[in-house]
Amino acid sequence: MEIVRTVAELRGWSRGERGKGRTVGLVPTMGALHAGHASLIEAGAKSCGRVVVSIFVNPTQFGPNEDFARYPRSFEADCRLAEAAGAQVVFAPGVEEMYPEASGGGAGASTFVEVAGLGDRLDGRSRPGHFRGVVTVVAKLLIACEADKAFFGQKDAAQVAVVRRMVEDLAVGTEIVVCPIVREADGLALSSRNVYLSAEERRQALVLSRAVRTVELLVAGGERRAEALVAAGRAVFAEEPGVRVDYVELVDWGTLEPVEVAVPGTLFAVAAWVGATRLIDNAVIV
Ligand code: PAJ
Repeated sequence: MEIVRTVAELRGWSRGERGKGRTVGLVPTMGALHAGHASLIEAGAKSCGRVVVSIFVNPTQFGPNEDFARYPRSFEADCRLAEAAGAQVVFAPGVEEMYPEASGGGAGASTFVEVAGLGDRLDGRSRPGHFRGVVTVVAKLLIACEADKAFFGQKDAAQVAVVRRMVEDLAVGTEIVVCPIVREADGLALSSRNVYLSAEERRQALVLSRAVRTVELLVAGGERRAEALVAAGRAVFAEEPGVRVDYVELVDWGTLEPVEVAVPGTLFAVAAWVGATRLIDNAVIV
């Protein structure tokens, strides 16, 4: 497996592969790779001739009081995981490569991509500027890689909505593929941030998947009213008073606007702080 550090090299490699008639899949990550990331790489390897995994802890998507400095970094283990899951290239640029000072603007860039409206809902509401950072870096990765397909996890469902919208609005030629949430045996959704949890917080964190599962079962039993479903989700969180709810919402997955009735494709999404760690989970209504 090859490690590539510059946009120019990545683009050259990708054009070369596509020139040979191979399709290129991109899996954008911030590293600290786990089985959830591996599932995206495996999906890429299944449907594309070549797969590149980007590993870049993107400073512009972290708020000033968030965990950018202590975000887990494990580059060598990440490369082994990426290779075992079927990647041919890891793209690991430095901050100055993704945000060159030469482009001005103080923060190392003056162009940002912002999805109005959508970018301020769900996680965007409690993390102002977060989706601007995400969408900007994803747009840059898609432009750099010229991939046929890019793979994202349903785990970050609001991220999927803003990225899809950006790709549509800017007519980016990459197909966005969404892969299911990978969970621990007890239901906890895999996340690079789970390493922050103490044993007691790890136990408390199960309230997120429990709330999601409860709502899925209610829907399966015929309940479709948002008010009842959101109340049921909140009631599960009330069982774990040490966990602070950020949001419990039933929304249209395209617009992230609240809906009154759950229909197939509607998103039930939750976010909560377990100690100092903010976790998210969701289910798409079937
Ligand atoms: P990161 O949190 O590293 O996640 C990279 C990709 O892995 C995302 O598409 C995310 O949804 C997916 N993923 C994470 N946990 C998962 C799980 N348990 N099951 C399935 N997929 C999972 O999301 C980001 O990085 C960044 O915002 C990024 C898109 C790379 C832009 O910086």
